[in-house]
Amino acid sequence: MTSKQTTEKPWGGRFTESTDSFVESFTESVSFDQRLALHDISGSLAHVQMLSHVKVLTEEECQLISNGLGDIRAQIEAGQFEWQTALEDVHMNIESALVQNIGEVGKKLHTARSRNDQIATDLRLYLREVVDTTSAQLLKLMTILVDIADQETETIMPGFTHLQSAQPVTFGHHMLAWYEMLKRDQQRLQDCRKRINILPLGSAALAGTSFPVDRELTAEILGFDAVSSNSLDAVSDRDFAIEFSAAASIIMMHLSRFSEELVLWMSPQFGFIELGDAYCTGSSIMPQKKNPDVPELVRGKTGRVYGDLFALLTIMKGQPLAYNRDNQEDKEALFDVIDTLQACLHAYAGLMPTLTIKKEAMLAAAEKGYATATDLADYLVQKGIPFRDAHAVVGKTVQFAIQEKRNLSELSIAELQQFCDKIDEDIYQYLELVGSVAARDHKGGTAPNQVKQSVKQAREYIAALN
Ligand code: ARG
Repeated sequence: MTSKQTTEKPWGGRFTESTDSFVESFTESVSFDQRLALHDISGSLAHVQMLSHVKVLTEEECQLISNGLGDIRAQIEAGQFEWQTALEDVHMNIESALVQNIGEVGKKLHTARSRNDQIATDLRLYLREVVDTTSAQLLKLMTILVDIADQETETIMPGFTHLQSAQPVTFGHHMLAWYEMLKRDQQRLQDCRKRINILPLGSAALAGTSFPVDRELTAEILGFDAVSSNSLDAVSDRDFAIEFSAAASIIMMHLSRFSEELVLWMSPQFGFIELGDAYCTGSSIMPQKKNPDVPELVRGKTGRVYGDLFALLTIMKGQPLAYNRDNQEDKEALFDVIDTLQACLHAYAGLMPTLTIKKEAMLAAAEKGYATATDLADYLVQKGIPFRDAHAVVGKTVQFAIQEKRNLSELSIAELQQFCDKIDEDIYQYLELVGSVAARDHKGGTAPNQVKQSVKQAREYIAALN
């Protein structure tokens, strides 16, 4: 464990002993931060361009370094770059290769810069791209939900509270409830993007740099909206990564709720839907089983993402200003958030179009649960009975229907009138499921007419973002 090794470190000047090999593997990050390589190179290219503009580097030096970085980028893209643990992280691996390839001039790349502002910049560039790809995934899934809603504006299912049949709703309305959650999720990502898209470069190690840097130019080249206002803050805080992970956790929470419903609906006891065979697996012992593993895994993976969020919050909580090596621990948690979230969104985009909707089963379930009891109460209120009294009358009526093992709409007018003489023949249209959903015809209501309008608005909303 205490053996020494001798690879020369870019920071080795003040050291007389080489790094312990255990310490080398304990402190390295290149095994995971190489994921940032292309963004690291983009940051370096912008940095040297700026340095040449302010005449800290000559145009020729800038050209040589840029060409050298371009070659390394090509090598990385071709999977031919050799990453070395002894060179610790992505930054020093690339810088060493540069010096090896183009000679002494390569050593000028790190002028007016520290790995502290470099890593903060790399992470922001990378996460900005992730926000954009995740946002596109969300918009895709939103479109899929709207397409289903469009097909199912008239499909009646029981709506639940406390997982007890409550009032009938349309399946299209239910799909648009999911859509609304994702719509807010996509907005949250866009909002978080504003705070990601700030340039830390120029903060150097912690205090700024004595070189006449033009940070606005670097920001412009890299497409950042602004430069950071305080160097100590810029190199040290990772709140932007935490904020993204919090937004990701909320998305996962929503996907987990969808998953819970899909799992319930697919059980033979509900029998509301079927998922495509390609998205299910069987049991090795029970031949009859077709299990909804994909939604179950999404529900399970939600726990991972929450855990990553907590890891990130905890990594930050004890750190004094400015940069501390603790921050290196942000990456694996953040990358796990991203990979898990994107995989789950991908799974959902594939899964949802395989849904078979079993309308008869949904309708039969809605008919069973006295779901139009509220409609009977509302009817009595229209006849002048106070709502509380109407509620009591309907309670008695439902009790009678349960004893009789019949639906409300199956009771005769004489039977209904036992409970209230204000009930007339016109009651039946209110007790029918179709009449019940159609009656909720206001913005945000479940009526097919409203669902159609919401579908139209949703399509316009998505189109405006694409
Ligand atoms: N690998 C480091 C990280 O991820 C890069 C910055 C290192 N800076 C330093 N002063 N050791 O945070």
